[in-house]
Amino acid sequence: VIVLKSKVRVESPATIANFGPGYDTFGLCLDRPVDLVDMERSSKPGIRIEIAKNGFNVPIDPARNTASVAAQQILKISGSSSKSVGLKMKMLKKIRPGSGLGSSAASAVAGALGAAAILGVDDVKEVLKAASIGEGASSGAPHLDNVSPCLFGGFTAVVDPDGFDVLQIEPLDMEIVVCLPEIVIETAKARKLIPKQLPVRSVVSHVGWASGMIVGLNNGDIDLMAACMEDDIAVPVRKRLIKGYESARKAALGAGASSFSISGSGPAVFSLAKSKHDSIGKAMVRGFAKAGVNSEFFVTKPGTGARIVN
Ligand code: HSE
Repeated sequence: VIVLKSKVRVESPATIANFGPGYDTFGLCLDRPVDLVDMERSSKPGIRIEIAKNGFNVPIDPARNTASVAAQQILKISGSSSKSVGLKMKMLKKIRPGSGLGSSAASAVAGALGAAAILGVDDVKEVLKAASIGEGASSGAPHLDNVSPCLFGGFTAVVDPDGFDVLQIEPLDMEIVVCLPEIVIETAKARKLIPKQLPVRSVVSHVGWASGMIVGLNNGDIDLMAACMEDDIAVPVRKRLIKGYESARKAALGAGASSFSISGSGPAVFSLAKSKHDSIGKAMVRGFAKAGVNSEFFVTKPGTGARIVN
């Protein structure tokens, strides 16, 4: 529900896009980490951005900041313009940019949702569209598989990107192990590696894996989800950007993980498991360390999406 306010704080969570077979389609909202964006109306026209020092850094140029690009779109559809309306935002970025955990999408959703609350835009598709435009400004293409779960929570599947039609499956009771190596991957560059065409046998496999994933999610069947955590589109071409990928994968599976895949465009990787989540995380860190790469892990669960907290 969007309530008209002059000052808002938006909490905007990390997400895992692609989620195995769902390139540009599937996404899961995480419980943490989350970004915080404080936004208020100001008497000075234009959008001004301040970055909190205790978080990660992002551009303060309104044309390059995904939160302000998204807010700008909300200004446009509300009939206001940044020549007449002023917005001030302070961003505390806890989701590392270039991590594969939907950092730019979290900013974009926060920018869109905050501006919508302040300007009285209550059409959720417009908020999603604005967030996707913000996301597009950073990744080079306005894909919806991070912004959708970030905005709606739970697991989402983009059915029609042009019509902004998205399916949502309520968050499940499960834990996810995420490991983030000290590697930065720009989504725009990682997207250039994606093959333009796929053999029919891969397309057929993807339909099967995606079907299994949705049924597994619906039934809370981790084994089925893990069996369907496959991908012929992005992982084969992107894993080489992640030094230590194979070693971390072996370590995670050896420690009892049911699956292992890349989160979004990486370098974050994640595993599903029924138990031993901490041991799996530690094994992933050791796996990366064997390849000379520092990393950190955390255990999280599905989140309920971005929200206005004041
Ligand atoms: N689906 C997008 C990609 C997600 O894999 O490029 C980017 O975070």
